[in-house]
Amino acid sequence: MAKLAICGGKAVVKKSKKWAKWPISDAADAKLVAKITTSNRWSFDGPVEWEFAEKFTAYQGAKYGMCVANGTIGIQIALEALGIGAYDEVIVPAPYWVSYPDIVVLAGGTPVIVNTSEKEGFKMQPRQLKAAITTRTKALVLNGPSNPTGAGYSPDDLKALAVVLADTDIFIISDDIYEKILY
Ligand SMILES: Cc1ncc(COP(=O)(O)O)c(C=O)c1O
Repeated sequence: MAKLAICGGKAVVKKSKKWAKWPISDAADAKLVAKITTSNRWSFDGPVEWEFAEKFTAYQGAKYGMCVANGTIGIQIALEALGIGAYDEVIVPAPYWVSYPDIVVLAGGTPVIVNTSEKEGFKMQPRQLKAAITTRTKALVLNGPSNPTGAGYSPDDLKALAVVLADTDIFIISDDIYEKILY
């Protein structure tokens, strides 16, 4: 394997590389940010945050929604809201977004990793879900399209997983962060 630039290898991307402009931000965005900073009330429950939360909740067609600092904290709060703690198991299909197991551990729980295969589209199969469930299983984290594989569960895939969970009290935490990314 080539030596990483940080270890003295040749840098593949030079500092002088011109990147596309992103994120695009204009005066209107700056005004909105200033509205928050000058409100002297920044948190999850400032008036601008609630306005955003209400609009975004409606956009998602959801019943409840609130602002949190980032996606990681959103999942952490979901685990805590579900009362997940010591001895509780949370099923995480792999490959997974790198932080899931740590978030479960942070909540005091135990991540149970289920390896998926390329042959099966990197999607957890109902038989695998069934085999991973124990008396300690409290939740399952699903992510589609997946980071890192890009795999997405179809409605039929989800129904088949739901059949496995139907007679259990296992919660599904659905991380749909990339739901609008279709390619
Ligand atoms: C699938 C998935 N969920 C959650 C997150 C967390 O997002 P954040 O960086 O806002 O904490 C990421 C970030 O890459 C992600 O890929």
